[in-house]
Amino acid sequence: MISMKKLPILPFLLVCAGMVFAGLAQADEIKGNAAAANAKVWLCVGCHSIPDYRADYPLVYKVPMLGGQSAAYIASSLAAYKKGERKHPTMRAIAGSLSDQDMANLGEYYAAQTASSPTNKLK
Ligand code: HEC
Repeated sequence: MISMKKLPILPFLLVCAGMVFAGLAQADEIKGNAAAANAKVWLCVGCHSIPDYRADYPLVYKVPMLGGQSAAYIASSLAAYKKGERKHPTMRAIAGSLSDQDMANLGEYYAAQTASSPTNKLK
């Protein structure tokens, strides 16, 4: 027969297991860090920081302003270029060099700015 003294340990163990699983689930989720984006943002400023800039290869493209767009949208657009779901050749090449963490960082970086922000460039 199970002694009454040992029973309370069962709920305690379940709570511990729950905490471990919650920790693992959190580790899976990538959190962007705007400051860390400074390591990569120099790759982007040449096109995305110039108002009304048009990249002219292979066709004339209007370069979208990234400042003020949602972090999740920026990160998922970059992932789509990397996977080839979005086709722009230069963006595909650039996104191909970025990790998921880089994309999340760049998303936070640009989301913290506005379209006309003078800081929509390398600080
Ligand atoms: C050579 C110029 C150039 C460079 C460098 C560049 N981009 Fe782009 N980017 C473009 C153009 C042009 C588009 C629009 C392409 C299209 O129509 O799909 C674009 C589109 C995007 C989009 C989609 C925006 C939207 O509104 O849908 C994101 C996000 C983006 N770029 C992020 C970046 C980031 C982050 C970097 C730096 C790591 C970067 N780009 C570097 C030219 C550039």
